[in-house]
Amino acid sequence: MAVLDQLTSQEAIDLENKYGAHNYHPLPVVLSRGEGVYVWDVEGKKYYDFLSAYSAVNQGHCHPKIVAAMTEQAQTLTLTSRAFYNDMLGKYEKYASETFNFDKLLPMNTGAEAVETALKICRKWAYEVKGIDENEAEIVVCENNFHGRTTTIISFSNDPVARKNFGPYTNGFIKIEYNNLEALEQTLKNNPNVAGFLVEPIQGEAGVYVPTEGYLSKAKAICEAHNVLFIADEVQTGIARTGKMLAVDHENVKPDILILGKALSGGAYPVSAVLADDSIMNVIKPGNHGSTFGGNPIAAAVAIAALEVVKNEDLANNAQVLGELFRSELSKFIETSSIVNSVRGKGLLNAILINDDEDSDTAWNICLKLRDNGLLAKPTHGNIIRFAPPLVMTKEQLLDCVSIITKTLKEFEV
Ligand SMILES: Cc1ncc(COP(=O)(O)O)c(C=O)c1O
Repeated sequence: MAVLDQLTSQEAIDLENKYGAHNYHPLPVVLSRGEGVYVWDVEGKKYYDFLSAYSAVNQGHCHPKIVAAMTEQAQTLTLTSRAFYNDMLGKYEKYASETFNFDKLLPMNTGAEAVETALKICRKWAYEVKGIDENEAEIVVCENNFHGRTTTIISFSNDPVARKNFGPYTNGFIKIEYNNLEALEQTLKNNPNVAGFLVEPIQGEAGVYVPTEGYLSKAKAICEAHNVLFIADEVQTGIARTGKMLAVDHENVKPDILILGKALSGGAYPVSAVLADDSIMNVIKPGNHGSTFGGNPIAAAVAIAALEVVKNEDLANNAQVLGELFRSELSKFIETSSIVNSVRGKGLLNAILINDDEDSDTAWNICLKLRDNGLLAKPTHGNIIRFAPPLVMTKEQLLDCVSIITKTLKEFEV
């Protein structure tokens, strides 16, 4: 077989199984093309993408404006490293900083790298600005968090699959219950060495847990009162996914440190970023942090285009309106359903809770059936299925998807 021969789905799956590390358990479908809300498998079958690469493809697959910006830049200048200046990075830093109302941006590539970056900035700020004794800084995180897979990040995960046998772990983290203001208040009161509070505005990977209204704004106020940095990980919730540009915008919260990734590039290229004001970001000096690819000209061109698409096409508003429609249509179905317990979410980041044990394979089987019926989704944890379509979806397409989902769920009613 020549390397570029057209493969069948089974051949592609066999190749990955034999030559790829088994660090994922994909749904058996092999995609070879995407456009807008649709993807096609190698046999030509068309599907609605209801995962959007975990909310990276908010702008839809292969958005022509993002692809045009990327190809034009790729033909001009791809990478210089930060050893030299390039003529795209500053433009992007200005555009993104102004979009999100921060003084400065630090460019990285993946979400996990951006989280690491935020943790480093927070610690350095703790020693050089807040005045915590060296190596004593603590960062408060939430139970059931998901912030990526690096050694430090899994050190404060409580997912045994992500953690076990990857020790020794990084110290300096205190875990508290998510959506629990009392726990945050008590922890900050009792620990003067806390430098930051790292939080997902909605816990996506954990199963789309939306905190009580007011949680984020009150948590921010508690952090302010204790001179603790409020660090929002909006890698999954940001860039219009939840019906606002940022999920924290629902509560008018401005984080001290903002972490973005995924849809910052519309899924075209790995682009992530950390944003903060000068009083925090200026602790970073030459040599403290960096990445060969971070801030490269393609990433800069792609991110500007991706943000422009979100604004010009008013994707936040579309996510808001379609999200409400989605939850209300599914709620009607759930009233008469024995297989689904509930639907929850914000904007177009939603999940349904399947009425079965956490370790049952019902949710997986439902996703296989959804695939057969032309819609791709995947369980997050056990019995929870996340639904996160591209935000360029129309109302007609969404209603079509609702009917595929409800028809499929009916096949599982007992
Ligand atoms: C909230 C959050 N933070 C960080 C990450 C890690 O991003 P990446 O996979 O690009 O490293 C994810 C990925 O799903 C995420 O959902």
